[in-house]
Amino acid sequence: MNSYWFLVEQGLDKLQDARAIRHSVFVEEQGFCNEFDEIDATAHHLVIYSGNTPMATGRVFQKADKQFTIGRVAVLKSYRGDGFGRIIMENLENQARVLGAETIVLSAQLHAKGFYEALGYQAQGEIYMDQHCPHITMEKSL
Ligand SMILES: CC(C)(COP(=O)(O)OP(=O)(O)OC[C@H]1O[C@@H](n2cnc3c(N)ncnc32)[C@H](O)[C@@H]1OP(=O)(O)O)[C@@H](O)C(=O)NCCC(=O)NCCS
Repeated sequence: MNSYWFLVEQGLDKLQDARAIRHSVFVEEQGFCNEFDEIDATAHHLVIYSGNTPMATGRVFQKADKQFTIGRVAVLKSYRGDGFGRIIMENLENQARVLGAETIVLSAQLHAKGFYEALGYQAQGEIYMDQHCPHITMEKSL
């Protein structure tokens, strides 16, 4: 893995690189519409950089008492399989802990279920569709 550093900001407007990565991965690559939502204004967003190059992003926000959600986890295609997804998750989990989280609940694209399982998440309930893509709820106690 190359050396890296990261930024965390509250509010997507303060981290335009997160917006660009999400547009590239979720809109252009995966074909999602309505990628950006009202949660972006208050969520904490993380971007991982190699030098000046943004590589990966994700966001975390409070969903209920002591329960937080991590989402919009995306690594640019050419940087996948090199541990950056794990680094995003570990850092967003730490951010959630600082904010008082005891559990993380997330909505996983089905193809990424094994990624989240590798990080200690367990699937809950039935598979459901979000736009064109099958998803499953996953949860982890911190
Ligand atoms: C899913 C994604 C974030 C994974 O990022 P990554 O940097 O490639 O993952 P890492 O290299 O950190 O992998 C961490 C672990 O998960 C495993 N893993 C990664 N992707 C996996 C997958 N699709 N299925 C099963 N296991 C996977 C790795 O083998 C690794 O396991 P190990 O630590 O036991 O060796 C990345 O593929 C991505 O951005 N995909 C497109 C966007 C997307 O679909 N995001 C998920 C939205 S729910």
